Amino acid sequence: MKTFFPIRKTNKLSKQILIQPIFVDQRLKSPKKIKGLGENYSWSHNAILRSVEKDLKKGIRNFLLFIVPKEKQKLPEDFSFHYEVIRSLKNHFKKDLTLLIDTCLCSITPDGHCGISQNKKINLPHTHYALGLAANTYLEAGADIIAPSDMMKDTTQYLRKVFSENEFHSAQIMSYSTKFKSGFYGPFREAANSTPKGYDRSSYQLPVSDRTKAIQSSIINAAQGANYLMVKPGMTSIDLIQDIKAETLLPTGAYQVSGEFASLQLLDSQGLGKYPDLLIESLQVFSRAKADYIITYGARDIVSYL
Ligand code: PBG
Repeated sequence: MKTFFPIRKTNKLSKQILIQPIFVDQRLKSPKKIKGLGENYSWSHNAILRSVEKDLKKGIRNFLLFIVPKEKQKLPEDFSFHYEVIRSLKNHFKKDLTLLIDTCLCSITPDGHCGISQNKKINLPHTHYALGLAANTYLEAGADIIAPSDMMKDTTQYLRKVFSENEFHSAQIMSYSTKFKSGFYGPFREAANSTPKGYDRSSYQLPVSDRTKAIQSSIINAAQGANYLMVKPGMTSIDLIQDIKAETLLPTGAYQVSGEFASLQLLDSQGLGKYPDLLIESLQVFSRAKADYIITYGARDIVSYL
């Protein structure tokens, strides 16, 4: 089985370990700039192909895809738009493109929560059912890696079960295994149409103050069958990467999330720093901390320097 992001033997930053997030929004006719995220746009289904082609030419090959459907659904079951987008990308670019799909319900649920809520509480069986349906659809469409970011209890285990029932035995899972409740997700939630309503995400996202829980969460996801682990937000979790790797022996990456990335852009726009320098510095720190891959909104801006 091909490992897309193996454990690295060097600390050198290289383009192979960079992952560029991309957004496709069914509500859009023309591209929409994402506030705070520099040259990152949300694209219509038609326009995403051209945008990815440009990125591939620059030397980026790994993409984390977020899909925002037009309709919210109370009990999400219709993933046909997701299917079409993934299929056209993989049909078009084939193996030139490593396509990771963020697998969550927050862009589709009416209240913006990552699972299906009932009376301000997550209904886990309903949530797992919908996530399983989604992930299975993404694999059928040709996704290379399923990246569940809902962080509900036992999602990785549930997905493994669904995949084996459907003969997707070698499907790969990148779990957002150590994901904190954070104030740094702001720009993303605008783009993903996923700002939570009614209650916050503390019932399923980790408290930043608890180191033991944070590492345990990755260990559990490893035991349940994740192929790759992650810390998120990346810059505020840098101290956890090596411990997680030592405990699990799995490749572990960092997600420089939207608010972290936007802060670099803001320093630049206020004349208080230089964006490319700040970006390189932050990515070198991830590399020094032994991240095996880095998800950053600046991947396409940095490849030419590597
Ligand atoms: C949830 C999800 C979030 C991000 C990626 N997947 C936001 C959240 O948990 O509220 C955040 C990414 C970012 O801020 O860049 N599906």
